Amino acid sequence: MRHPLVMGNWKLNGSKHMVNELIAGLRHELSDVDGCDVAIAPPFIYLDQAKQAISDSHIALGAQNVDINLSGAFTGETSANMLKDIGAKYVIIGHSERRTYHKESDELIAEKFAVLKEAGLIPVLCIGETEAENAAGQTQAVCARQLDAVLKTMGAPALKGSVIAYEPVWAIGTGKSATPAQAQAVHKFIRDHIAKHDADVAAKIIIQYGGSVNDSNAAELFSQPDIDGALVGGASLKADAFAIIVKAAA
Ligand code: G3H
Repeated sequence: MRHPLVMGNWKLNGSKHMVNELIAGLRHELSDVDGCDVAIAPPFIYLDQAKQAISDSHIALGAQNVDINLSGAFTGETSANMLKDIGAKYVIIGHSERRTYHKESDELIAEKFAVLKEAGLIPVLCIGETEAENAAGQTQAVCARQLDAVLKTMGAPALKGSVIAYEPVWAIGTGKSATPAQAQAVHKFIRDHIAKHDADVAAKIIIQYGGSVNDSNAAELFSQPDIDGALVGGASLKADAFAIIVKAAA
């Protein structure tokens, strides 16, 4: 039985005031939630503040990115060891916004996966097709290619204990979520693809859905057998909406 994970990706949003307000709201709303792992991924600059604010709660800390280098002359970057030091548990890699705006390749993302595993952090590996790729019937091929970049360099055992987030790019921030049936079909494809390498890892790996998840559509998405929680963007910025999503997964 897989334990779902609902994670809030705050993206480039927040302030010192908002971090305290939002986490106070989450602590209140989620105090009695059991049966679902919960995490938040604030911007780097607020990670330490957030870590203090979630202390003694069951909310875990995530980060939104990592560099492949551990130290040295890499201006503006943050290492896996620094994230570990600050108390992060999860790190999002391969998000479509980084693939698009920062030109991150499948190979670079596989390197990021490797440094996170080495540091003992949990990668949340985002994969997913664009609208054009979807229209061209390439959804499975794109997801397979993005997964294979990690599988080829690390092998399937490296996926053990990691998290996959299937995020169709056309559903991110658009209000147009994949339907539960659409998402389930791709999640099953992802699990089956991993199973070709390692059936046990495939059966146990958490595969989140991401893309316009909100308090109205979460429950139906989570009712699908291969959807194990969500990576939530916009709706994670409101404590009440995020709590409804968490409770739908629990
Ligand atoms: O990481 C989160 C996803 O990009 C989804 O964002 O919930 O705002 O569509 P969204």
